[in-house]
Amino acid sequence: MPPHPLFFQGGNGSRLTDLDDNTYLDYVLGWGPVILGHGHPGLTEAVQNQLPHGATYGAGHVLEAEVAEMVIERIPGAERVLWSNTGSEATQVALRLARGATGRRRFIKFGGHYHGWSDAMLVGYRPGPTGDLARGSEGQPEAVLDDVTIVDWGDIEAVRRLLQGDEYAAVFCEPVLCNSGVLAPPENFLTELRRVCDATGTVLVFDEVITGFRMSRGGAAERYDVEPDLVVLAKAVAGGYPLAAVAGRAEFLELTTSGVVHAGTYNGNPVVLAAAKATLEALDEPSVYETFENHGRKLGEGFAQALTAHGVPGTINQVGPVVQCMIGVKEAATFTDFLAADQKFYDRLLVHMLRRGVFTLPGGRWYLSAAHSEHDVEQTVDVFEAALKATLADGATPATVS
Ligand SMILES: Cc1ncc(COP(=O)(O)O)c(C=O)c1O
Repeated sequence: MPPHPLFFQGGNGSRLTDLDDNTYLDYVLGWGPVILGHGHPGLTEAVQNQLPHGATYGAGHVLEAEVAEMVIERIPGAERVLWSNTGSEATQVALRLARGATGRRRFIKFGGHYHGWSDAMLVGYRPGPTGDLARGSEGQPEAVLDDVTIVDWGDIEAVRRLLQGDEYAAVFCEPVLCNSGVLAPPENFLTELRRVCDATGTVLVFDEVITGFRMSRGGAAERYDVEPDLVVLAKAVAGGYPLAAVAGRAEFLELTTSGVVHAGTYNGNPVVLAAAKATLEALDEPSVYETFENHGRKLGEGFAQALTAHGVPGTINQVGPVVQCMIGVKEAATFTDFLAADQKFYDRLLVHMLRRGVFTLPGGRWYLSAAHSEHDVEQTVDVFEAALKATLADGATPATVS
């Protein structure tokens, strides 16, 4: 990360302190999971209370069921939950469940959507050196491409056409495309996806690794009122501890007791489940989600006003506590719009923000936590504007795309 990698000594609430004792308002939040802020007292206490009782049992325990019930109560359509460690693992088991249930091999995903780094899933995320949306990594076999078809986000006709052939086990999506522009789903798109999956016996998977417990208490499924068959959860679920889950319909999840293998030494260990219980309880405190909306809006509007005031073309997208800044594009509704944003200008802006004590992700995305105060948000908008001025004063001019 420019201008050089940062190393931190610790965090507290909305702030992180680096090894040189510089303190930053943190909008990286560990790339999303730290939804309560750093060192949240209730979460820390819950983990500390569990530690003397052991790290893992390799057998059932009460927290597994207790926290599964909390997830079932929150996530629309969830009847069963399985525990895993990371989003990348959980998306793999979701795919395996879909294949096990349907007897079909292929799946659909959308361009720019990220579902972890496994061979099967790391396709169509970013254009490769030749501009094609194919494999994401050296070392990934070409054969993975036989299993997946990449469709443009929002192209329901393409999905409908592909699903006619009874070939596809599942459709995977980030219901809000957070990894590529914070693009809300086009109107009625998720409902139409649900319909076409129902009509063709295809498993609909919402990858809510980012949106889960963040876009609302019940994630994007609740926000957009659509019940997928399977929901993949990670990041916010345990407030920064390594936990992931697949929640969904019993008929799919129960396949793990009759032939679909899901394994993992650390799955559902009591330490991370204690963290998840404390996190979900803390997110239930009054007005957490209302504050997410207000702070998200305030941050987004503040950035947009600063861009206008300084004549810098750009777009701000915001859904709940996730904000995306794209320089040089007038409107960003598609993955192509997102790719057109002027990343070089943003990188320079980011360095000026770091110098002024704001730590944020490369690429333009911002995460808010429950620990960010209104004052933090106001201060951040001021820093954004000052950083914008400094970037322009350096002589940088945003590349504009019409
Ligand atoms: C939408 C989405 N799915 C899956 C993953 C993979 O999760 P993990 O990094 O825990 O493997 C990520 C990670 O950023 C993600 O954003």
